[in-house]
Parts: sequence; structure tokens; C-alpha cells
Amino acid sequence: MSKHHTVRRHTPRSLAALDTPIVSLTAYTTPMARLLDPHCDLLLVGDSLGMVVYGMESTLAVSVDMMIAHGQAVVRGSQKACVAVDMPFGSYQESPQQAFRVAADIMARTGAGCVKLEGGQEMAPTIEFLVQRGIPVIGHIGLKPQAVHAHGGFRTIGRGSEAEQVMADALAVEKAGAFAVVIESTMEPLSRAITEALGIMTIGIGASPQCDGQILVAEDMLGLFPDFTPRFVRKFANLGQEVDRAVAEYAQAVRTRTFPGPAECVGMPKAD
Ligand code: KIV
Repeated sequence: MSKHHTVRRHTPRSLAALDTPIVSLTAYTTPMARLLDPHCDLLLVGDSLGMVVYGMESTLAVSVDMMIAHGQAVVRGSQKACVAVDMPFGSYQESPQQAFRVAADIMARTGAGCVKLEGGQEMAPTIEFLVQRGIPVIGHIGLKPQAVHAHGGFRTIGRGSEAEQVMADALAVEKAGAFAVVIESTMEPLSRAITEALGIMTIGIGASPQCDGQILVAEDMLGLFPDFTPRFVRKFANLGQEVDRAVAEYAQAVRTRTFPGPAECVGMPKAD
């Protein structure tokens, strides 16, 4: 007989019932998920992994297979957080049917609790199609990294006349049935107004402290991604420097034959 133990994971429903802001970070691997899970309500397997893990220039070349492999790794490494997996570029924009096939595959093969997809009004029919078929969806508006070329770069969204479109996107995503929406790199007053206007959770990244939760790329806030740090990132640690120090020390120990030492070898006489 197999041994069962209950893992009480957050679900979209239990996240909505939280009376404190949702704590969310990206995670791409099992060891990182293990470290983040005790502190986070929501772990996002973001397609930002293309840039952070694979060194790509943008998220556009990330595949469904990559998202599934990393989604499985994060589900394995977590117990408590709800895990969301990003739908990558080209895997859902063609039709609601295409989106359903891919989202169902991601959910079935990773064990994730929901998917996230980028887009506002134009993606509302797709979000509705997924939600009506049992797939919880997080929307993503404001700066949509998969539309970086259309945006004209990674920039702040929502100045001037753009604000109306972003608000319309937020309302459309809610009406379509998404249970939460990520607002990325969007003017603070607009992000706050969206949070006030919506009944669903808003999760900000470069948005507003008034959002119902916050998300950052874990490597950014840990100081592990030196390539580019957006203004909205706060570095809570500088682990890149610590890794550099440790590896330099290791290299020195190898080159001077002080590593491995007697305690790290079997059958080596202890030094006097
Ligand atoms: O891909 C990602 O990591 C994201 C977050 C930045 C919200 O979408």
C-alpha cells in the first residue's frame, strides 16, 4: 500500500481568500523552488526563463516543452505555493482551441494550478474559453514581454492615451473570467486605478504598492542576474558577488592543492 501525505497547496481560490498581499516570485528549478516555497503564496514558472536561464535576448523563442520541463521541476520542489506556468509566445494566440490544447497539456504534465497568458481585450475570448473548460487563468497586461517589438522595447506603459487601453484590457480580462491579472511596468496611478476597479487580484511588477500582490523575478531580487536591472527591482541580496567570492576561493584552493583536504578524502592520512 502506498503512503499518502496531504500537501496543502494554495489554489486560485485560497489565494483570493488571503487577507495579506500575495507574495510571488518566479521559479524555474527544483532547488530554487525549495528555497522560495516556504515564503511564497504563488510561484510563477515565467517564460522569462528564456532570458534568465538560457541567455536569450527576449522570451519569444521559449517553447512549450521548455515550460513543461521547468514547470515539472518547480512543482517537484514546492509543496505550499500555487504554481502558475506561463504559456509561451505562439502557443495560444492563434485560436482558443490551440490555447486549450496547450494549456491542458501544461496542466496535465506539470501538475501546476493555473496558467498565465499575456494580452488584454484581444485575448478575452481565449481566456473565457479556457476558464469555461476548467483551466484557471492569470492574465498579464501593461508591458507584455512577448510583444516587446510591438511595444518598441521594454518600457513603462500607460502614459497619456495608452492608459485607456490598459484599463480596457484589465476590465476585459476580468470579464473573461481570469482569477488574477499581472500588471507589468505600468504607471503607478493607472495600476492603482485598475486595482480599485477590479474585483479580481492584481499582482504588480513595476506597478503599484496598492496591487493585491507583488511579483519579481527571483534572480533579479537576489542579485543573480547582472545583465539588466529594471528600475522597479529592489535587490534584497547580492548573491552574484557571494558566488564570485566562493568560486574564486574554490579556484585558489584547487590550484594550490589545498582542496580536497584530508577530511574530504577517504584513506588519506590526517596532517600532523
Ligand atoms: O515571465 C515572467 O517572469 C513574468 C513575470 C515577470 C511576471 O511574466
